[in-house]
Amino acid sequence: MTQAIRQHLIDPEICIRCYTCEDACPIDAITHDDNNVVVDAAKCNYTMDCIAPCPTGAIDNWRYVTEAYSLDEQFGWDELPEQADLGDDAGTLGEAIEDDIGELIARAHAGTGGRPVAPASAENPSINLFSRSHPAVATVQGAYRITDDDAGSDVRHIILGFGETSFPVLEGQSVGIVPPGSREDGRPHDIRLYSVSSARDGEKRNGNNIALTVKREDKGLCSNYLCDLKRGDKVEVTGPFGSTFLMPNDPNSHVVMICTGTGSAPFRAFTERRRRAMPGAGGKFVLYFGARSPGELPYFGPLKKVPSSLLEQHLVYSRLPDTPKEYVQDRMRKHTDELSHLLESDRTHIFICGLKGMETGVDEALADVCRAHSLAWSEIKPRMREQGRYHVETY
Ligand code: A2P
Repeated sequence: MTQAIRQHLIDPEICIRCYTCEDACPIDAITHDDNNVVVDAAKCNYTMDCIAPCPTGAIDNWRYVTEAYSLDEQFGWDELPEQADLGDDAGTLGEAIEDDIGELIARAHAGTGGRPVAPASAENPSINLFSRSHPAVATVQGAYRITDDDAGSDVRHIILGFGETSFPVLEGQSVGIVPPGSREDGRPHDIRLYSVSSARDGEKRNGNNIALTVKREDKGLCSNYLCDLKRGDKVEVTGPFGSTFLMPNDPNSHVVMICTGTGSAPFRAFTERRRRAMPGAGGKFVLYFGARSPGELPYFGPLKKVPSSLLEQHLVYSRLPDTPKEYVQDRMRKHTDELSHLLESDRTHIFICGLKGMETGVDEALADVCRAHSLAWSEIKPRMREQGRYHVETY
C-alpha cells in the first residue's frame, strides 16, 4: 500500500526570505540557499513553532505526498507544486494524517501555547492577494521627508495609489515591496516588508491608496529605492500580510501603543482609524513613542496636532542636550497607576512595535508596573496573548 505523509512546505512566491522560521525551528529542520527557504521532511516533526512568527504566511503550506519533495527539488522551485493526485489508498491514509497533523495546524492557527492571536473584535484581514509573480503595480502619489532635514535619520512618508486594482489592508498589516533589478547572480532581489501607516479606507479617504513609513538605511537596497521614489514612479507591491497584529474594532477597547522610530507606522494607521471611525470612543488610546529628539521623531509635526481627547501621547527622547536619556520603558514606569489599571482590564490591548531591544525593556517595565500594584505580570501576559490582546512586532 502507498504510504502518504503530509509534507510541510514554504511558498517561494510569498516568502520574503527573512529567515525568521529558520530561527524559530527548534530542530533545525528549516534551511535555505540563495534561492529558497525550505523544510527538510526527514527532520520536520511538526513542532509548529515556525508558523506564527512568519510575517507573510508563506510558511503555512502543506501537501500530501507519497514521496517527500527533496531539499534539492524545493531549492529549485519558483512556485509551489499543486497537490498531486495520490490515488485511493493514499487518499485514505491522508485522511488519517489530517486528523493528527490537521489538529496541530489548527492549534498553531488558533494561537494556543502563547502564539499570537488577533484581537477578538478585529476585522478579518485579506492576505497574500499579490505575489512576486503577480504583484500589484502601484503609482507613487507622494513622497515626503518626515524627519527634520538636518536629522540623522531620513524617514519618508510614501503614498502608493493602486488605481483600479483592489488592494485591501487593515491597520497593522504589512505589504511587500519588490525592489527592481537583480543580484549579481541574476536572482531577483529579496522582497522587503513594510507596515502600512494609513487607515483601511486609504491615506486619502476612499482613495484606494496606502502610506508607508520608510527609514533610509545605510546601504539598504530597498529603503534607498523607496526613499528616492518620485511622484508618478511605479512600484511592485505584494501582500497584504499579517493576520494578528490588527486593530480591535471595539471602540471600548483600551489600546496601549509602544514604539520607537518607524515602529510608529502601524500606530499612525490605528490613530487615523480611531479618528475617522470611532469619534468619542470609550476606550483609552495611549501612545508611548521613543526617538532621539523631536527632529528625529517621525510625524512629530502632525502628532502635535492630534488632540489629547483622541490620543494620550508620551513622546520621549534619548539624545536631548543637557537632559538625561529617556526610553519608552522609563516613561511607562512613571505611569504605573494608569498602566496597572489598564492591565487589570480585559478590554486592554498592548501593541509593541520597533527596535528589538525595546521588547525586553518594555516587558520588564510592565513587570515592574504590576509588582508595584500587587499584580502578577507572569499571569497577565500569557492571558493577554491567548486572548489576542498582546502584540509584538520588533526588528
Ligand atoms: P538611543 O539614543 O539609545 O539610540 P533609532 O533612532 O535608532 O531608530 O531609535 C529610536 C529610539 O529608540 C532612540 O531614542 C533610541 O535610543 C531608542 N532605543 C534604543 N535602544 C532601545 C531599547 N533597548 N529600548 C527602548 N528604546 C531604545
